[in-house]
Amino acid sequence: MRVLGIETSCDETAAAVVDGERHIRANVVLSQLDDHRPYGGVVPEIAARSHLDHLDAIVRRALAESDTRIGDLAGVAATGGPGLIGGVFVGVMTAKAIASARGLPFLAINHLEAHALTARLTDDLPFPYLLLLVSGGHCQLLRVGGVGDYTLYGGTQDDAVGEAFDKTAKLLGLGYPGGPAVEQAARSGDPARFDLPRPMRGRAGCDMSFSGLKTAVRQARRRLGESATDRDIADLAAAFQAAVADILADRCAHALDRFRAETGAPGPLVVAGGVAANAAIRERLRSLAAERGTTLVAPPLGLCTDNAAMIAWAGIERLRLGQRDPLDFKPRPRWPLTEMTGAGRARAI
Ligand code: KG4
Ligand code: ZN
Repeated sequence: MRVLGIETSCDETAAAVVDGERHIRANVVLSQLDDHRPYGGVVPEIAARSHLDHLDAIVRRALAESDTRIGDLAGVAATGGPGLIGGVFVGVMTAKAIASARGLPFLAINHLEAHALTARLTDDLPFPYLLLLVSGGHCQLLRVGGVGDYTLYGGTQDDAVGEAFDKTAKLLGLGYPGGPAVEQAARSGDPARFDLPRPMRGRAGCDMSFSGLKTAVRQARRRLGESATDRDIADLAAAFQAAVADILADRCAHALDRFRAETGAPGPLVVAGGVAANAAIRERLRSLAAERGTTLVAPPLGLCTDNAAMIAWAGIERLRLGQRDPLDFKPRPRWPLTEMTGAGRARAI
């Protein structure tokens, strides 16, 4: 069973072909970073136009690289939301066109669900597991009980953690994209030099907050003044990253307690989304999992950040359950994972 996946919800134009044996036959990602860099963030209109310019060629390349003809496909899956709506439209319309021209099932995939199910593509992980989903737009802890079965344990009350990385990078003049730039700077920094807050740490439940931390970084940066050195910036980046790791580890510890109470199992803990690319955060979560007698499952870097292999895989999971989406599916700018079950979701074939 081969499925074509298409991802256009943010600033990556991506297409992939994945098969039912969990082989990624092709995984093509075109980053628009250079288009957005002058603006210090993703400009939705530029993103949509760029998807439009490039998607057809990217799809053709994914099919060619995987030696797949459209007739070999069992379905076409595209991110149906949440995301920047202009880009989502481009991917959804392309997938619908291919599907309707060739009589193939069309699947509108929730981008967050695709991140959530990636560990099953990479590690063949059985349900249930605890998921920490940390990206530029999303920041939540969930129990994943099955395809479409997501229980929200907690989420951010303000910024998503990736957003906090991006804003911190901007404050520190580290450029864009923020996450990798902060991680790079932090590598040579001393995390103990600045005493930054850990909002909500120790509090009951699994909610998170990062805006107070961001404000503290801004104040520390201001105090350093115009003459701040590379060393100062590196120390502040390291302190920020250490605070984030502490907050996430504390929230995950609470979530693991709840997961054990509900399922009787200590884990595993899965981390997904762009921030999962951060080595310091991975290490922190890995030791937390080990302390709790369970494991951390972290997909390889290229499958943590946005890609179309995860979209194709989510399509395979849905197809296996006999589901497909109607061709009048409307792209959804907002689409919480907790709305995946019930009415409005894929219909049985
Ligand atoms: O999942 P993703 O590619 O796109 C969204 O759906 O948001 O995540 C992008 C986010 C950005 O905020 C980026 O700064 C962050 O993930 N990120 C990182 C790292 N690499 C990407 N954050 C921290 N450390 C990194 N190495
Ligand atoms: Zn994402």
